[in-house]
Amino acid sequence: MLLLAAAAVLALVGAARAQCDLQQHVAGGVHYIVSPNYPLNYTAGTQCRWCITADPGAQLKLSCDVFKLPASTNCTGDRVRISLSGDDSLNDAHVYCGQRTFTLLSDANKLTMVLETLYTSTGGLFLCNMRLYR
Ligand SMILES: *[C@@H]1O[C@H](CO)[C@@H](O)[C@H](O)[C@H]1NC(C)=O
Ligand SMILES: *[C@@H]1O[C@H](CO)[C@@H](O)[C@H](O)[C@H]1NC(C)=O
Repeated sequence: MLLLAAAAVLALVGAARAQCDLQQHVAGGVHYIVSPNYPLNYTAGTQCRWCITADPGAQLKLSCDVFKLPASTNCTGDRVRISLSGDDSLNDAHVYCGQRTFTLLSDANKLTMVLETLYTSTGGLFLCNMRLYR
């Protein structure tokens, strides 16, 4: 019980860093950002962060063509948060959940994306691609 409580607190603290914390530099071509276990669902409690950079002066284009997360009002359940300024604290993040597709353009040469899921999640998956915007 104590361990479970501790784990829950850690999840609340939003430690997207805990499980997977990935950095990618996009210099050209297509880079894929996929949820853990893809094409199977991620497991409940998965927390991941992707920090994407490009060379100064470049912009990044993110397209999520496969995106199936459990839906919740205001995305208070499983969600993906994306900062188009690459802000690590995600203060300016866009929030996504449910089944949808979307394409986003970074403000400059950085973009930060996190996957935050509940310990009671039924799972979900996404397949996004990242390329330089020209
Ligand atoms: C969802 O967000 C809107 C806008 O912030 C708020 O007015 C509404 O009460 C929220 N709904 C729930 C169920 O939290
Ligand atoms: C995978 O996730 C989707 C979306 O949350 C859910 O509807 C589906 O039941 C899950 N599939 C399995 C095999 O758990």
